[in-house]
Amino acid sequence: MDRTLVIVKPDGVERGLIGEIVRRLEQKQLRVAAAELRTIDEVSAGRHYAEHVGKPFYDGLVTFITRGPALLLVIEGPGDTWKVVRGLIGATNPVDAAPGTIRGDLAIEMRENLIHGSDSEESALREIEIFFPSLT
Ligand code: RTP
Ligand code: MG
Repeated sequence: MDRTLVIVKPDGVERGLIGEIVRRLEQKQLRVAAAELRTIDEVSAGRHYAEHVGKPFYDGLVTFITRGPALLLVIEGPGDTWKVVRGLIGATNPVDAAPGTIRGDLAIEMRENLIHGSDSEESALREIEIFFPSLT
């Protein structure tokens, strides 16, 4: 099976959208291989978003992702799981995200865009190692 990392970000947990988001993943026939509600610490957030260090939105992004509990998920599918999940998530900016996608249907702000999904096979492996080291 092929795995990717998904995070229901703090806004999704605060808004009570865990069920809705997991439902969409499961309806696609993806499976939850691991799940934990956890407030992400600053060190893990920095590792996770290392590619964005120095960008104007970086500090706000880390403050946001660490502000309260997030649902960390390892999601499993038959192949290209990261790509399947990114399709369900939709474009980064909810303004551009197509209706039918999670961000397109449920989010409206760039920062509070509800959900993270790894953006490649390499990112998936790297990010699962950060949040679920015992699985790798
Ligand atoms: P994510 O990593 O959170 O799943 O989102 P993504 O791949 O769709 O987008 P990415 O480029 O990795 O950016 C990470 C998060 O930073 C915020 N962002 N703001 N120009 C901006 O103001 C800007 N660009 C990105 C978004 O909240 C995005 O989810
Ligand atoms: Mg990203």
